[in-house]
Amino acid sequence: MKIISIVGARPQFIKAAPVCRALRSQHEELLVHSGQHYDYNMSDVFFEQLGIPRPDFNLGVGSGTHGQQTAEMLVLLEELFIEQAPDVVLVYGDTNTTLAGGLAAAKLDIPVAHVEAGLRSFNRAMPEEINRVVVDHLSDLLLCPTGAAVENLTTEGISDGVALVGDVMLDTARCFADADETRVALERFEVEPGGYYLATVHRASNSDNEQHLKSIIDAFAAADKPVLWAVHPRTAKNIEAFGLQARLDSAENIRTIPPVSYVETVGLLKGSVALLTDSGGMQKEAYFFGVPCVTLREETEWVETVELGWNRLVGADTARIMAAMASIEHPSTRPDVYGDGHAAEAILAALEARYSCHS
Ligand code: UD1
Repeated sequence: MKIISIVGARPQFIKAAPVCRALRSQHEELLVHSGQHYDYNMSDVFFEQLGIPRPDFNLGVGSGTHGQQTAEMLVLLEELFIEQAPDVVLVYGDTNTTLAGGLAAAKLDIPVAHVEAGLRSFNRAMPEEINRVVVDHLSDLLLCPTGAAVENLTTEGISDGVALVGDVMLDTARCFADADETRVALERFEVEPGGYYLATVHRASNSDNEQHLKSIIDAFAAADKPVLWAVHPRTAKNIEAFGLQARLDSAENIRTIPPVSYVETVGLLKGSVALLTDSGGMQKEAYFFGVPCVTLREETEWVETVELGWNRLVGADTARIMAAMASIEHPSTRPDVYGDGHAAEAILAALEARYSCHS
C-alpha cells in the first residue's frame, strides 16, 4: 500500500511519530509537511526529538489567512497527489493542513483516512470545528480516539468506515516520557516540583481577543504560585499588538518562555501543580500524567477529562480561572478512556483491513 501522510502543525508531528513508524514497517509511506509551522521550536525540534522521518516533501506554505493558507496547500497537494498516485491519504486532527489534505484527496477520488475523527466542540466559531466536520464528511476511514467520537459520527449519520483505535498521543507519551525529563526540564527552567502552574494559550478565541488575553493575564498574575507560560508566537505578537506587554511585565508571578519541545513540555507538565491551557492535546496529556487541568475555553472535545473530574472549563474569565486554581482536585480514578497506548498499530490494522487489495 502507498500512503501519503500530511502534517504541518505542532500537534500533528506528535501524532504522526508513532504512526509513521508503524506504517513504514509494512508499507510505503511518503510524509508531506505543509510548512504551516516552520520555526525551529514549532517544527524541526519535534522531528529531531520524536524520531520522525524527514518529510519527503515540504510545501513551505507558511502563515497567512485561512483562505490563503488552505488554498496554497490545496494547489500544491493536488499536483503532488496526481504525480504520486497514493492508495490512501492520511490526515491528522483539525488544522488547515488537515482540511487541505482531505479536500485535495477527496476531489481526486483518493480515499482519505482521518486520524482523530469524530471530535466535536459544537462551536462553529472555532476554525478547527469547521475543519474537522468537513474532513470527517469527506473521509473514507474514520479513525476515532474515543467512544464519544464514534457516537458523534453516528449522530451525523456516519457509520461506514468508522474504527475506534484509541488516542495516538498516548502512544507518543508512552514512548517518550521518562522520569528523567522532568528533572532536566525543572532544572533548566529553575522551577520546583509542584511549585508552579504550566500555562499555554494559542486558541484564536483567546489570542486574537484583547479582552480575553487581558483577563487571562490578570488571572495568572493573581495565582497563588508562579505561572510558567510557554508563549505561542501568535499570542506573543498579539500581546505586543494589544499593548499588553507592560501589564505582563509588571506581573511578577508570571514567567514567560518561548515554545518548548515535546520532551520539555511533558517534563514541565509532570512537575506542575496544574495545567492552564486552551490547547486540545495538552488537556489530554495532563490526563495521561495525572495532572489537573484548567481549560481556558467554554467547551472541549475531550469531554471525558471533564466528566472524570480532571479538567475544569472556565473560559477566559479572571474570577473563574482564579476560583479553579484555588480548588484544584485530584480525583481518585483515571480510567483508560484513551486506549492502551497502541493506537498506531490499530491504525495500521484498520488501513490494511480497508485497503488490503492494494497491499
Ligand atoms: C494551528 C491550528 C490549531 C492548532 C495549532 C497548534 C489551524 C486553523 N489552527 O494554530 O488548530 O491547535 O496550530 O499550535 O490550523 N507562527 C509563527 N511561527 C510558526 C507558526 C506560526 O510565528 O512556526 C505565527 C504566525 O504569526 C502565524 C500564527 O503564529 O500567523 C498562527 O499560526 P497558524 O499556523 O495559522 O495557527 P496556530 O495558531 O498555530
